[in-house]
Amino acid sequence: MFLTRAIYVSTPTVPMGPKERETVMNQISEAGLRHNPDNGISGLLAHDSDRFVQVLEGERTMLTETLIRIAADPRHTDFQLFSMQEISQRMFEGWAAVLISPGDWPASQPRRVAFECLTSEGLLERLLHIRRYGVVAARAITDAA
Ligand SMILES: Cc1cc2nc3c(=O)[nH]c(=O)nc-3n(C[C@H](O)[C@H](O)[C@H](O)COP(=O)(O)O)c2cc1C
Repeated sequence: MFLTRAIYVSTPTVPMGPKERETVMNQISEAGLRHNPDNGISGLLAHDSDRFVQVLEGERTMLTETLIRIAADPRHTDFQLFSMQEISQRMFEGWAAVLISPGDWPASQPRRVAFECLTSEGLLERLLHIRRYGVVAARAITDAA
């Protein structure tokens, strides 16, 4: 068994404006909760109006199957795998790919991040920050309040 962590960024093909995103994210959330715990997958998915960023951890074969399924999902495109590497322990234990939406980010802590300018380590750092503080990554262009 090889514990592995993957990070990808993609572009939504479905409208992710303030009105529509709740429905989309609820549907994705339901799928994640339906599959990830049983498959030993932990992680976190963040988004703004024009990017998804997700970190997923799990046993390598199951993680690969999950990534292939997600990458084929027509709700997003431009799937870019930033990194996939063996790890000794999880960083998102107990997180079944929980979703953080811009509306949930406290406005008191805006921190503008250009996801496409980040390395995989930079992305991981932001996702960890979101996990720790329930906050804080928005792109320079964002509809976050
Ligand atoms: C951005 C994004 C993230 C997703 N994350 C997950 C995930 O973590 N786990 C998962 O099982 N499905 C995830 N999905 C959904 C899958 O692509 C797929 O629709 C789902 O797993 C199919 O499940 P079902 O056959 O039970 O409907 C995600 C989809 C998108 C667009």
